[in-house]
Formats: sequence, C-alpha cells, structure tokens
Amino acid sequence: MILQKKADVHWHPSQIKRSDRERLNTHKGITLWFTGLSASGKSTLAVALEMVLHERKCRTYILDGDNIRHGLNQDLGFSPEDRTENIRRIGEVAHLLRDCGIINMVAFISPYRSDRQIARDLCKNDGTFIEVFVDSPVDICETRDPKGMYKKAREGIIKEFTGISAPYEHPEKPEIHLRTDQHSVSQCVDNMLVYLEDRQFIGIE
Ligand code: ADX
Repeated sequence: MILQKKADVHWHPSQIKRSDRERLNTHKGITLWFTGLSASGKSTLAVALEMVLHERKCRTYILDGDNIRHGLNQDLGFSPEDRTENIRRIGEVAHLLRDCGIINMVAFISPYRSDRQIARDLCKNDGTFIEVFVDSPVDICETRDPKGMYKKAREGIIKEFTGISAPYEHPEKPEIHLRTDQHSVSQCVDNMLVYLEDRQFIGIE
C-alpha cells in the first residue's frame, strides 16, 4: 500500500491537551507494547495487568491482535505486507489512545522490528512507548498451543505461522523483558508495575 500525505488536508488542533487529560486521569497516557510468539502470554499478561490498574482507578484499554482482526483489521492476513499494515494501523490507534491519556496495552505478535520501530517513533522518544518482550521459547509455546495452531502449522494447514514457517525478530532493547516460561503471571505483573511506578507513569496527582 502506498501511503500519501494529503497536501490539502490540515491538522486541526484541540483546545484540550494531552497533559490536561492526564491530569484528570491522574496517570500518563502510555502504550505497553507486548510482542512475542503466539501462546507466549501476551494477552494473559495484558489482561492481568489491566485488572490491577483498573483497581487503582486507571483508565485502560487492551488492543488485542485476535480481537482487532475481527473488526478494524479483518481485511488483513498474515503475509509480511499485511502484518506490516496491521501493526501500522494499530500503532496509530495506540498513539491516539496515548493522546487520550489512556494506558493502552497492545498485544500483537508484531514480529518485525522495523514495524515496531514505526509504532515507537510516533511517541517521539518521550518514553511513553514501552516495549514488553513476552519471551518464551517456541517449543514451550508449542506445548501450550491453546488454540491448536502450532499443530496445524506443523501439518502445513496454517501457512506462514510465526516461529514455525514465518520469522519472529525479537526486540534488541525492550524496556521490559519477561520470561513467561520462568516466572508466574503475578511476578510478571509486579515487574511491570514497578517499571510504571518508578517512572511515575501511574499515581500522579
Ligand atoms: S501479527 O503478526 O500481525 O502481529 P496478530 O497478533 O495480529 O499477528 O495475530 C496473531 C493471532 O492470529 C495468533 O494469536 C493466532 O491466533 C492467529 N493466527 C492465524 N494465523 C496465523 C499465522 N499464520 N501466524 C501467526 N498467527 C496466526
């Protein structure tokens, strides 16, 4: 797809700024970008973290690959080009949610470094894009196989399956690195909470 900037379309600014919304919310607008293999634990960790943040009265939202592919991105498959477009769109949605002052959790395999970099670049290095590498070896993910997808991929029924017949490029410098084969869900959640508290992303008055 060729992306074009519209020469005759101009940005119309709002009177309410992101900082105004963040003050109301008493936390920052941030993106926790979970990346990892299918069945590595991305959605599980996003849901578990959201529960804790919601209890703390944070405004949150989860963008989950499996869900978004039922609606906004239902026209996309799993070729490299479609995955790039999948991540481009969701990077833009995450950017809008940051501007709303919402803590958004993106749980997409997002296998390509260059695609994740494009999503990251939208935050202009302000630290609000937090890459969370949900790391579990492929053989462990394959043992979990909650949706029977690895089995189908091995049988050749599902083509271009990440980790089996399509690549996964692991993050080189993720802000948070979680080994879900070695640590429990609650340990991983604690780890993320410490990160958010240390940087005062949550709990601001
Ligand atoms: S991504 O690679 O474009 O980021 P995304 O996270 O949206 O993928 O969707 C991944 C989900 O789609 C997996 O959890 C799995 O359930 C399903 N899926 C179906 N086909 C494939 C495939 N070929 N590769 C990876 N996941 C697939």
